[in-house]
Amino acid sequence: MNILGISAGFHDAAVTAVSNGEIVFAGHSERYSKRKHDPDLHPDLIKDAMKYIGQVDQIAYYERPWAKFTRQLYAGQYKDAFNQYNLRNELYKIAQWSGLHSAPIKNYNHHLSHAAAGFQTSPFDDATVVVIDAIGEWDTISIWHAYYDDTTGRAEYQKLWGQKYPHSIGLMYSAFTKHVGLKPLDEEYILMGMAGWGKYDSIRQLRLNHSIVEDDQDIKFKHNFHLGLPDDIVLPNKSEDIAYAAQELTEELISSIMIKARHLGVSSNLVYMGGVALNCRANRMLGEYFDSIWIMPNPGDAGSSLGAAAMAAGRRLVWKDAFLGYDISGPYPVKGIISELATNKICGVASGRAEFGPRALGNRSLLADPRGPEIKDKVNEIKRRQKFRPFAPVILEELVHEYFDMPVGWNTSPYMQTVAVCRDPDSYPAIVHVDGTSRVQTVPKDGSGIRQLLEQWYVWTGCPMLLNTSLNIRGEPMVNDRSDADRFEQLYGVKVCS
Ligand SMILES: [Fe+2]
Repeated sequence: MNILGISAGFHDAAVTAVSNGEIVFAGHSERYSKRKHDPDLHPDLIKDAMKYIGQVDQIAYYERPWAKFTRQLYAGQYKDAFNQYNLRNELYKIAQWSGLHSAPIKNYNHHLSHAAAGFQTSPFDDATVVVIDAIGEWDTISIWHAYYDDTTGRAEYQKLWGQKYPHSIGLMYSAFTKHVGLKPLDEEYILMGMAGWGKYDSIRQLRLNHSIVEDDQDIKFKHNFHLGLPDDIVLPNKSEDIAYAAQELTEELISSIMIKARHLGVSSNLVYMGGVALNCRANRMLGEYFDSIWIMPNPGDAGSSLGAAAMAAGRRLVWKDAFLGYDISGPYPVKGIISELATNKICGVASGRAEFGPRALGNRSLLADPRGPEIKDKVNEIKRRQKFRPFAPVILEELVHEYFDMPVGWNTSPYMQTVAVCRDPDSYPAIVHVDGTSRVQTVPKDGSGIRQLLEQWYVWTGCPMLLNTSLNIRGEPMVNDRSDADRFEQLYGVKVCS
């Protein structure tokens, strides 16, 4: 059966094509339209998905519009409620360009789509699934027991606990994001980076927590953060300290949920999904509660296009890696990158299939030699982003423990999902945050292009890692095709190898 999973209409529209249990394509609209977080389906995205499946038997949508409608009415979002996204109409509009002909549409619960995207791509036969996001239809936090039925092989989900709108950790974090002048539902990761620069004494942190949280076991708040931060809470003056306080509180609440999940769940395998699972600083503590951890590398709503397809498939999906998007074909340009790094220390790469998820993992990356003090400013000249934000290292998996002190439960980190303490920050200042941690990407012996590159780089320099940041023109999403890469080259004068 050929299934097309879709998440669209709110933010980060994405499509996943599944054919007979195999994920054959998954991509984001924004990479085609060049509009960050584009909520609309792009015809070329669907066209690319269709190249891999030919025809569609079932369309799977990542949430239930009627349930969302009732919540929007409750929340007073009348404009949104009465301008409800109509997938059938949207597909009809782009049918002649996308090549997608009519197929039955099934709608799945928002949190269940998150859960399925995680569990059905995980290596586990059974798991405790935790979903934490801003808002779906009504659910904001949910805990599930997921397993495969012995006789049918079908994935089964039993809900163990949940919290509903307006009590939402994601909305609270977004309210803090907005409060410090950043863009909510976009720049939460910048708030997380800012937190490393802040501090707040424990007495005042406790007082702040008390003014925000009604019940830290049931995760209930005293305010509806959908409306922003209330005026009556006492915050520090500096943005960095506000970010720190928000991050501390968030981690305490996540910790409380993980304790509850471990207590309620029958499995010590954790599948963790929802936009809050992108908080890699908070993720370092997950191993304190669970023996094994799986976070699908696209845990937010875009990844739920895969989740909806997984729900329709009903069984385990074949997960190989996150390189599932648009293909720039040809061998990975190892030699070209090494020679460029030797001369200019910085090189772009746009090769193979684009990453499905917000992180560049080596196929649409800007790479640099991480050694020495000057490289951070050099890369920042190109990225022109806030100086307080660090860049991430990508390292040969078998050497990660020599260079980083990995948190409990995180032997590897192939999708940059946790932070680890760098053992030698003075030698690699460009990839270390002010708090001494790095958002590490480990690369296993999988024969991938980035693996071959790191191996040769190590032989040549004795250094097993590179600085890795996403290849994008400022203000735009990640590079998708070769013409984007050409524009990047022209704008910044940095070679992009394909
Ligand atoms: Fe969500």
